[in-house]
Amino acid sequence: MLMHSPHLINFSKVGSPDLGYISVAQNSGLPFEIKRVYWTYFTPDSIIRGHHAHHQIEQIIIATSGRIEFSLEDINGHQQEFVLNSPNIGLYIPQLYWRTIKFSHNAVLMCLTSHEYDESEYIRDYDEFKRMSLTAR
Ligand code: TYD
Repeated sequence: MLMHSPHLINFSKVGSPDLGYISVAQNSGLPFEIKRVYWTYFTPDSIIRGHHAHHQIEQIIIATSGRIEFSLEDINGHQQEFVLNSPNIGLYIPQLYWRTIKFSHNAVLMCLTSHEYDESEYIRDYDEFKRMSLTAR
């Protein structure tokens, strides 16, 4: 598997059914250094979020609670689906993947990112994203 393709990361899970569990993300062992963490919650299950790609930012997404479905598309139109429904699984997303996201209402999405927030590095126009495949040739 290419390191710079979307892929699932198995975080270690320490504990037992009797005690509960702990999982840890730390910079050693991650594909980038974490600069920002954000989380989203109370998303109605009728809503599709995302609809953007990033020029610079790499992310690892964790469903710390509930179920989250990711559809990813690269600039060549290749699509992949990922389901996150376990708190010890992360989804690595490189730069330049268009994403749409569906949540169960109880879902909490935690995102570890490689850069601080910068609206100017978002690509929010799908047509602009699709045009990038032409300029990349
Ligand atoms: P956005 O990344 O578009 O969320 P989603 O992909 O879940 O739909 O962000 C939603 C809003 O929150 C947008 O107005 C930008 C703002 N925001 C920040 O101010 N700081 C942040 O770190 C993030 C991730 C979003």
